[in-house]
Amino acid sequence: GAELAALVAGASVDVPDFPQPGVVFKDLMPLFADGAVFRQVIDGIVAHHGAGSFDVVAGVEARGFVVAAAIAYATGAGVVPIRKAGKLPRKVLSASYALEYGEATIEVHEDAFIAGQRVLVVDDVLATGGTAAAAMDLVERAGGTVSGFSVLLELGFLPGREKLSPRTVHALLTV
Ligand code: PRP
Ligand code: HPA
Repeated sequence: GAELAALVAGASVDVPDFPQPGVVFKDLMPLFADGAVFRQVIDGIVAHHGAGSFDVVAGVEARGFVVAAAIAYATGAGVVPIRKAGKLPRKVLSASYALEYGEATIEVHEDAFIAGQRVLVVDDVLATGGTAAAAMDLVERAGGTVSGFSVLLELGFLPGREKLSPRTVHALLTV
């Protein structure tokens, strides 16, 4: 717990005024770039949920893909990408939501999941929770069962966790 939190804290960089004035952006690219830290972080998420507790991992474009693919490869699960609007080639389900800065629509193929398939939903950062709420909504609308939700970093001064209640949020670090 505390060890992983310290790893995430040590491998993220605060960027003032990105992507707009007044926002302090937490950049996790240094964490992804450090092989030893990245592996420990991914292993920590897997250990929290248990490798047998999910069948597929869903990650939200773009940084969620990095986390999802690593967990999937480590556990033998599949990956289902949840993409920004207009990127998926076949029939999709869509969900729109407000971001901390701006608005977005994400999509998943309507046949992405086998009915009842257990889906671990992951992303790099939980901020307002709009992305995560939309992603989990899409998973369930597409017939999957959300078995858990993890992020590397939770911005605790934003109401993401409350927005997702009663779903539980697993965050390696909350700032
Ligand atoms: C970021 C982050 C999460 C989301 C969190 O993605 O990776 O997906 O915002 O914000 P929320 O909790 O307020 O919804 P972003 O939309 O910046 O896309 P990117 O991964 O393509 O950079
Ligand atoms: N860092 C990374 N991703 C984000 C942030 C942040 O501070 N806020 C919303 N998405």
